Amino acid sequence: MASATAPFVRTAFLPYCLPEIGQEEIDEVVDSLRSGWFTTGPKVKKFEERFAEYCGVEHAIAVNSCTAALHIALTAMGVGPGDEVIVPTLTFCSTANVVAHLGARPVIVDVDDHYQISLAAIERAITSRTKVIIPVHYAGQAADLDEIGALAKSRGLEILEDAAHASGSEYKGRKIGAHGNTVAFSFYATKNMTTGEGGMITTPNAEAATKMRRLALHGMSRDAWKRYTQAGSWYYEILEPGYKDNMTDLAAAIGLHQLRKLDGFNRRRQQLAQRYDRALGPLGCFRLMQPRPDRNHVYHLYTVEIIPGTLQITRDQMIDRLKELNIGTSVHFIPLHKHPYYRDTYGYHPDQFPNAEKIFTNILSLPLYPKMSDTDADEVLETVTSVALANRTR
Ligand SMILES: Cc1ncc(COP(=O)(O)O)c(C=O)c1O
Repeated sequence: MASATAPFVRTAFLPYCLPEIGQEEIDEVVDSLRSGWFTTGPKVKKFEERFAEYCGVEHAIAVNSCTAALHIALTAMGVGPGDEVIVPTLTFCSTANVVAHLGARPVIVDVDDHYQISLAAIERAITSRTKVIIPVHYAGQAADLDEIGALAKSRGLEILEDAAHASGSEYKGRKIGAHGNTVAFSFYATKNMTTGEGGMITTPNAEAATKMRRLALHGMSRDAWKRYTQAGSWYYEILEPGYKDNMTDLAAAIGLHQLRKLDGFNRRRQQLAQRYDRALGPLGCFRLMQPRPDRNHVYHLYTVEIIPGTLQITRDQMIDRLKELNIGTSVHFIPLHKHPYYRDTYGYHPDQFPNAEKIFTNILSLPLYPKMSDTDADEVLETVTSVALANRTR
């Protein structure tokens, strides 16, 4: 183990994240290129069917990002000017940006000790204008879906799950996507499965599915994607002004194989997380994410929180030191209420978010992804340990 005077240094920089792509994905993309189907075609349809089956939900609509998925879902729910949508502050900007795009008000609330949207904060934020609650399954562990669901039902509100981190995650024995809500997934390059850029909307509701599918492709009448095939027709009608958010067959070609590998990827993430927990827990400097009952945490992120007073360096200094020692890290997230747009437009103040403020000051995300070897993981641990030991206050 490294000593305080001579920290361990990796020979090459380890990025905070890297996708895992195999020959199958490459061959499938080449097959799409040769077939002439570059845009939405049969592979998108197959990917949607397999994703829906995997999640245990009736309908899946493939789109070109999770941001698009969230935007389309809110549009289909009829969110617009005068409405309020409750979102947690510890999330990526997309969760709230899409609300602003629709002219509605994102009502930003604090998170709890598990980094999830706080149930008490939701209750305090509900007004007569509230229409939707967006819980984010932070880092790949499910939010309190039952409790939030019961609250939403009692107040006549809709739930849109932001599952950007949660492909393959489970809550109470069922996959995320299968709990009766509209759900938005991300297949961005850093996610548990990727299509480069991409996303999916799932819903048990056939009517909502039809509307969202239409919104994702200009508002065109049914099966618009078939219009260049023998089975299709040149004739279509625009039923509403939709968007250009459809997934391409090139992306779905990657997604079909990533989906097959997803459970294996997630098991590897869990193994690495356990390895990290075993080594970092005993140092006493970090609060680690606790796997919670009734959930299967798929560790999209491995977030550690420096316990205040245990280190002489700040989180920012820790990140800089790890970078010097060839370990990439990141921070998830800069809370929404701190971004100038949200702070200045809605007048948010740090005092309204005591938990997120405390968490944000001290968190960093360590590299964790299936492509990492055990040696990579041990080198991350050795480096983090040497930096922590060199800077302990006690
Ligand atoms: C919580 C959360 N929601 C939404 C998104 C947006 O995903 P996409 O890049 O697929 O639009 C992200 C992306 O990082 C995210 O972390």
